[in-house]
Amino acid sequence: MRTQVCIIGGGPSGLLLGQLLHSIGVDAVVLERQTQEYVLSRIRAGVLEVGFQNLMRQAGVGARMDREGHVHNGTLITYNDERVRIDFSTLTGTSVMVYGQTEVTRDLYAARAEIGAKTFHSVENVEIHDVEGDAPYVTFDQDGVTHRVECDFVAGCDGFHGVSRQRIPKDKRKEFEREYPFGWLGVLSRTPPADEELIYANSSRGFALCSMRNAELSRYYIQCPMTDRIEDWSDDAFWDELRRRIPSETAEQMVTGPSIEKSIAPLRSFVCEPMQWGRLFLCGDAAHIVPPTGAKGLNTAASDIHYLFEAMRAHYLDHDASAMDQYGPRALARVWKTQRFSWWMTTLLHHFPEQSDFDHHIQAAEIAHLRDNVEAQRVLAKNYVGLPY
Ligand code: APR
Ligand code: PHB
Repeated sequence: MRTQVCIIGGGPSGLLLGQLLHSIGVDAVVLERQTQEYVLSRIRAGVLEVGFQNLMRQAGVGARMDREGHVHNGTLITYNDERVRIDFSTLTGTSVMVYGQTEVTRDLYAARAEIGAKTFHSVENVEIHDVEGDAPYVTFDQDGVTHRVECDFVAGCDGFHGVSRQRIPKDKRKEFEREYPFGWLGVLSRTPPADEELIYANSSRGFALCSMRNAELSRYYIQCPMTDRIEDWSDDAFWDELRRRIPSETAEQMVTGPSIEKSIAPLRSFVCEPMQWGRLFLCGDAAHIVPPTGAKGLNTAASDIHYLFEAMRAHYLDHDASAMDQYGPRALARVWKTQRFSWWMTTLLHHFPEQSDFDHHIQAAEIAHLRDNVEAQRVLAKNYVGLPY
């Protein structure tokens, strides 16, 4: 078969790119390793920067997000019982939207089905060929049949464990990584959120996050050792520990209930350079990973898609042959800014095993600095709502 862009990966990155390309009449095929049901079963963060919201609207997929998403004009940073509110709207003139990544992906799949675009699920043995030349192609197996996709470009949107990044010769790519000495134990519960806004809590016992999906569905996390297993944590043990890490007034009022999902995720910072190799372009988790503290995973995937879409639009509509060469450097410039912010938020709010009492005092002083300094709050707010593309 022949298409203009072969997109490997049917997660948010791949689907959003496919929808944007369709909006300018460029054909794309999506190859996804899992079933659609499996992709939609993933529980992922859903704090959307304005840039992401606008891309969804530009792709014609923003209606339900605008209808059901929750605008958040601020967030709370707490240190034991001390509360510092970061007022996004006053400090930046804008806000974020809370709308689950699962819902984003659901909307993108529905839109793709509506346009009748080709999406192959449960594919195996995806291989990327001849991206160094001007006639790349991708082969894959589905139900025992091998298929070949001739294309102009390959978009590697297949996440951290995909094949695209590996297609860049090992001696030609440089990988930058930091692993954090703890994980996040996450719980989803059918209970009302602990507060109207998210609470990022540092405490003498470690980090906690109170988030939500909607008025009836809450998402909580506590920092835990990577050696912990889910079976080590009963629901009661989780709620008790969470309550000890957030302000006591919130802890006393919050509603707890049975967990409907419980998982432990590692935290890592990771960047692959370059983000393009010939006619192969890496987007999203295929190229970079951030610790979730700054809610930048999905939002950095979005800025990659913005840059790649703009380059492809210039290539196909303006016949600008140089546009595609700009993708990698442009995307990486913003990737490193979100890497910095995610690392900074993680360092500010978590306990590190090797930390001394001096380090703990520095963290407390950093949060006091935020409390007392509106310009420090503005810097945090500008990064959180999303730096310009
Ligand atoms: N062939 C086809 N599809 C693949 C392959 C492969 N070899 N390997 C992985 N995939 C699919 C995965 O099944 C997944 O559905 O690629 C998709 C990649 O999606 P994500 O991992 O969600 O990555 P991305 O689309 O870049 O979205 C980034 O997702 O993981 C979160 O925190 C991350 O919020 C961020 C967002
Ligand atoms: C979530 O709701 O899952 C979430 C929100 C904000 C974050 C991380 C996760 O920074």
